[in-house]
Amino acid sequence: MKRACVIGWPVEHSRSPLVHGYWLKTYGIEGTYTKEAVRPEEVAHFLRSLAADGYVGCNVTLPHKAAAFAAADERQPSATAVSAANTLWLQDGRLVAANTDTYGFMTNLNAQAPGWDARNAPVSILGAGGAAYAIVYGFIEAGAKEVRVFNRTRTRAEALAQTFGPRVTVFDWEDRNAQSRDAAVLVNTTAIGMNREGTLGIDFTAFDKDCVVADIVYVPLETDFLAQARQRGLRTVDGLGMLLHQAVPGFEKWFGHTPVVTNELRDLIIADIEGR
Ligand SMILES: NC(=O)c1ccc[n+]([C@@H]2O[C@H](COP(=O)([O-])OP(=O)(O)OC[C@H]3O[C@@H](n4cnc5c(N)ncnc54)[C@H](OP(=O)(O)O)[C@@H]3O)[C@@H](O)[C@H]2O)c1
Repeated sequence: MKRACVIGWPVEHSRSPLVHGYWLKTYGIEGTYTKEAVRPEEVAHFLRSLAADGYVGCNVTLPHKAAAFAAADERQPSATAVSAANTLWLQDGRLVAANTDTYGFMTNLNAQAPGWDARNAPVSILGAGGAAYAIVYGFIEAGAKEVRVFNRTRTRAEALAQTFGPRVTVFDWEDRNAQSRDAAVLVNTTAIGMNREGTLGIDFTAFDKDCVVADIVYVPLETDFLAQARQRGLRTVDGLGMLLHQAVPGFEKWFGHTPVVTNELRDLIIADIEGR
């Protein structure tokens, strides 16, 4: 029986067990996927003991993503690019680290907004935290002409731009409206809007009609930010798809089967979000 888990501190809120549990059942695979609350000071020890404890790998959530990156024996480019790991697996006794947030975000964007095109118009990113690194990396890899970063704390945006080079430009948080109207894609990577707390203060009135608006917050499924964009007739992409797609590579590595993100799985997670 293959065993995988998600580690975090806290970890109770994680919906990963629901996602992987659904796939294990759907494909009739004998395996388990559990939540493990691991204190920050215990992460290195926990990861060193993965094989001995019978695990084939794990997911890593906050605040352990940098520690997991550091603990790995091998790092995939997706993790090196953002100096953080969210997916680990054992390969010939060595611990391999990847970051599947980039894959999850870009796969979902391609699925929910096919044909988006940032070759001739900028991409605007709100936020410069861990998730922003993964998403900026995705757009740079996808050939975006310019990625504009707006963050409340400008120095964090500058550090992000330093990591990815001259195609990433930094703007003041106050300029997020004026400098995003011509954007091909606008993405909220901040925690604003989670449980309807806070507002991003974006006025979509003068935005280009082809702008695709994405949020990575997925509670509620349609944030106020997405609702306002949709009411202006813009195409929107919700954050749940990113969560589901980022889980695919880990499941494949641990359990040897490429899972599919289905509407049934989406509905299962939506029901959980809505407390049904
Ligand atoms: N859908 C998914 O699969 C997925 C994956 C990863 C993360 N997420 C979600 O994405 C969000 C960000 O995650 P993260 O790991 O990047 O977090 P993080 O590293 O803590 O970064 C948080 C970001 O939000 C900004 N922020 C927070 N409160 C703000 C406020 N009141 N006004 C302006 N900016 C504010 C921060 O700005 P400062 O730098 O100024 O503090 C920073 O840019 C979380 O809600 C997380 O749940 C979703």
